[in-house]
Amino acid sequence: MTLNQSFLTFASAMMLVPGLACAENLIVIESANNAIVYDVADNNRLYQRYFGKRLQNKSDYSQIPNGPEALITHGMEDYYEPAVHINHPDGNNSLQLTYKTHTTSRLTDGTEQTVITLADPVYDDEVKLVYVVYPEHDIFKAHTEITNRSNKPVEIEKYASSMLHFANGDYYLTQFDGDWASEANASETKLKFGKKQLDTKLGTRADMFCSPFFQLGLDAPAQENAGDLLVGTLGWTGNYRFTFEVDHKGQLRVISGINPYASAMTLQKGETFVTPEFIFTLSDSGRGTASRNFHDWARDHQLYKGNDTRMTLLNNWEATYFDFDEEKLKRLIGEAKELGIDMFLLDDGWFGNKYPRHSDTQGLGDWQETADKLPNGIGALTEAAKASGVKFGLWIEPEMVNPKSELYEKHKDWVITLPNRDEYYFRNQLVLDLSNPKVQDYVFDIVDDLMTRYPDIAFFKWDCNSPITNIYSNYEKMNQSRLYVDYVRGLYKVLERIQAKYPDLMMMMCSGGGGRTDYEGLKYFTEFWPSDNTDPVERLYIQWGFSQIFPAKTLCAHVTTWNRSTPVKFRTNVAMMGKLGFDLKLDDMSADDVAYCQRAIRNYNALKPIILEGDQYRLMSPYEGQHAATMYVGKNDGNAVVFTFDIYPRYKQEIHKSEAIVKLNGLNPQARYRVTEIDRQDGSDQSVGEFSGEYLMTVGLPLFTLNRLNSRVFSVDRL
Ligand code: DGJ
Repeated sequence: MTLNQSFLTFASAMMLVPGLACAENLIVIESANNAIVYDVADNNRLYQRYFGKRLQNKSDYSQIPNGPEALITHGMEDYYEPAVHINHPDGNNSLQLTYKTHTTSRLTDGTEQTVITLADPVYDDEVKLVYVVYPEHDIFKAHTEITNRSNKPVEIEKYASSMLHFANGDYYLTQFDGDWASEANASETKLKFGKKQLDTKLGTRADMFCSPFFQLGLDAPAQENAGDLLVGTLGWTGNYRFTFEVDHKGQLRVISGINPYASAMTLQKGETFVTPEFIFTLSDSGRGTASRNFHDWARDHQLYKGNDTRMTLLNNWEATYFDFDEEKLKRLIGEAKELGIDMFLLDDGWFGNKYPRHSDTQGLGDWQETADKLPNGIGALTEAAKASGVKFGLWIEPEMVNPKSELYEKHKDWVITLPNRDEYYFRNQLVLDLSNPKVQDYVFDIVDDLMTRYPDIAFFKWDCNSPITNIYSNYEKMNQSRLYVDYVRGLYKVLERIQAKYPDLMMMMCSGGGGRTDYEGLKYFTEFWPSDNTDPVERLYIQWGFSQIFPAKTLCAHVTTWNRSTPVKFRTNVAMMGKLGFDLKLDDMSADDVAYCQRAIRNYNALKPIILEGDQYRLMSPYEGQHAATMYVGKNDGNAVVFTFDIYPRYKQEIHKSEAIVKLNGLNPQARYRVTEIDRQDGSDQSVGEFSGEYLMTVGLPLFTLNRLNSRVFSVDRL
């Protein structure tokens, strides 16, 4: 069944379908290729009529029968999971939503916004369903706004951002789960009757066990370059939940939003609760198109400094851990310059005097330089960096506190902790209560103070190593169920202030590896740290996972000493597919490797416009065999770069030619291209030949080898 047909089945499947509405009652929300159509039926309720490929003739939508109610509520005719559930003070917890008005407006940034206002005919609840469409990127954003228009408080128990309905034959869900150092593993499951939920309850972050995005193959398993597919993510740096529920008729509902777990919110008279955005795209040509929709949209509309380039960096974390002093750091700054790197990033361990941060057991919260490590302060380092022509970046973890810290001693009331129980710790630390405006000020001041004292700081790595534990807010007192939501809102308030005051600052979002990987966070951050696992073989999988919705310039990828059995070139080539960084000392490498890295960084700088701004095509998945390949095609000149990796090729593969051939993608079939292997260990380039785009995409080239842990980079230049 195609997307266009998917709703035809609803007519026979639904018991409660109202009569065919006339065209005037349709609310049509279209992007360049897709459309969502709602209908106000004779009973004045809103139904999802269609979600699929855009039809050329709008009046054709009126011939499609209605599907289920747009936003299913608790307590009415439906027997499955509702999107909205409101508890009224009289004990009646039912909600019915009838249509009031809708408006469509074109916003200045080229997006189109549709607001559908619904209200309960009996109670004074109002729910707005808001869509923003980015037509050229085929990206839709949906959220709801729930307003209490009565005189008494109401409690909202479930408050989804979006509910979408499907009536395809089969559904195949790809999730991206894992753990610390093993993030974003892709696996696909066929959905059967019942409910499947992807959610987290980590409080400070969305991710760690399951990334806040999914792919849903409609009718058939998702493929890279073919097939109908919904890809969705929630813009929320906290607890999220995606519910996929297949009912007894094989219809699927997808409910996305904040995880309502332990998070009922009370709305006072006149108060509105605005839910985070569910961001999604529909592709009729597989995962690749959906990814490129997300990448382009993110660069143009969501990601902070989305169309600016990114700095290469040298981080000292794995080079020194906590064991450093001014001398050592100055040496590393010199090494950054020697390698040709843009920025030196000082990681954890530079602060704390009563409780010096010599390990992760103490000092967090005390943001003054440790005097015996850095007697001349951060200023001596920013000066050294400036003298070397290298920018300076600094690690902070401002939302957290070690119990062994002056901050904890002074301000235990700012800490999320249970007043009447023993504390337990995640990485020896606790979370500060960002629902409290005083704590928001304190966190803002950490950055403000550092920037005032050291205006040469160009970058922060903002870490967040603990989920919320010991959950109790001294500030929220009798409203503890607000904490999960208000924490994240408090964080955004701080980030907004920082962005407003320091608009040039670039920041990496980090959360004990890849714990924070969401698009609302990326409104404030220029990039994120996908994983503490920098073994390049593992990274092929982790980066593969995150590349499904995040563009290369957001994915920090560092060359380290993890998995020393891999050549430095292999590690570097994996990292070149993202935002390249290094996290090692020069004496971790041979002189030959240092020379290679210097050339690789020059190559990367030349390729940045293609890798960071271009179209990404995943050519061969590491999940499929012993090789992997990805290419990037430049937007302007159509030149491309291809990265190929031989992981653990098997001898027999030589005869299975198709496994050794790489078919390129995204080229102009009519144009001719020169293919050259570049970035070779010995510094030479090797010509592969000249080919038409059609040849490269149809016949392909034998770019893989049978050498273990081997990598190659090919430049594909349009003639
Ligand atoms: C966790 C991060 O993921 C690491 O990169 C490093 O910054 C450490 N925290 C420092 O404590």
